[in-house]
Amino acid sequence: MKKLTFMISTAVLASAFVAAPGLPINPVTMVSSAHAEEPKKKKRHPGKRLYLRKSCLACHGKGGARSIQNYPNVSGQPEKYIAQQIKDILSGKRVGSHDENGAMRTSPMTGALITPEGKVRVSDDDIKKIANYLSLQPPGKVRPLETPLTDVQIKAAKKLYKKKCRACHGKGALKPLKNYPIIAGQNKAYLIAQINDVKNKIRKNGKIKSMYPVVKKLTDEQIDLLGSYLSQIDRSK
Ligand code: HEC
Ligand code: HEC
Repeated sequence: MKKLTFMISTAVLASAFVAAPGLPINPVTMVSSAHAEEPKKKKRHPGKRLYLRKSCLACHGKGGARSIQNYPNVSGQPEKYIAQQIKDILSGKRVGSHDENGAMRTSPMTGALITPEGKVRVSDDDIKKIANYLSLQPPGKVRPLETPLTDVQIKAAKKLYKKKCRACHGKGALKPLKNYPIIAGQNKAYLIAQINDVKNKIRKNGKIKSMYPVVKKLTDEQIDLLGSYLSQIDRSK
C-alpha cells in the first residue's frame, strides 16, 4: 500500500515537471533521489532488535501479539504500563500464583531474563525502547473459544463488565484510563489467572490495589465468564 502511494506520488511529481518544461530541475534526478531515501524509512525500530535479542519473542510471539500457552499478549498496550510491568516482574514487585506445574507464573520470564548470578539481562534503557516498540505493534488476534458463549451469557457478561469494570477499563474494555492496561482481546487463561491473583491479593504492584474491592466478591463462575467474554473482543475492529 505504502509503495503504491509512493509510486503514484512520484508519477504525479514527474508529470508536473513534464507539464512545466521551463523548470531548471530535471524530473529524473528528483525521482531517483526520492528513491535513495526510501530505505531510511524502513529502518528497524531499536526496540524490535532488543525484543528479538533478549528472547522476548520466544514467549510473547511475533510483535508481542502471539504469546505461547497462557502467557499474555503484550503488543498495543500503553507504553508506560508495559515498561512498568517488565520492571516490576524483574524486580519481584509483581509476582503471581503458581500454575498447574507448581511454577510461579512470572518465573518463566524472570528465569529467561535474570542470570543465575542475579544479573538482569535488560537495562532500563532497553526496557524503554522495547516498551515503545511494543506499544506501537498491532494487538493479537482473538483466539476463538472451544465453546462459544451464548447470547444470554454475553448479555450477562456485558452487564457485569459495565457495573464492575468499565469505570477503569473503559467502554468495551478498549479505552481504559490513562496508562491502564487494555483487557479486551487478551488471552483468556491469562485474564482469569490475573483476576484471581488480584482477588487473592497476590498481585500487588503498581495501581492494582484500586481493583481489590471490585473483584473481592466475584465468584469463580463470574471470573470465568468475564475472562471468556473479554478474550473474544476483537481489538482490530
Ligand atoms: C520464558 C518466557 C518469557 C520470556 C522470555 C519473556 N516473558 Fe514476558 N511474560 C512471561 C509470562 C509467563 C508473563 C505473565 C506472568 C504472569 O502471569 O503473572 C509475562 C508477562 C509480561 C508482561 C506483562 C503483561 C501484562 O499485560 O501485564 C510484559 C509487558 C512482558 N512480559 C514483556 C516481556 C518482554 C519485553 C520480554 C523480553 C525482554 C519478555 N517479556 C520475556 C513470559 C516470558
Ligand atoms: C478502580 C479501577 C479498576 C476497576 C474498577 C477494575 N480494574 Fe482491572 N486494573 C486496574 C488497574 C489500575 C490495573 C493495572 C495495575 C497496574 O498498574 O499494575 C488493572 C489490571 C487488570 C488486569 C490485568 C491486565 C494485565 O494485562 O495484566 C485485569 C485482567 C483486569 N484489571 C480486569 C478487571 C476486571 C475484569 C474488572 C471488573 C471486574 C476490573 N479489572 C476492574 C484498575 C481497575
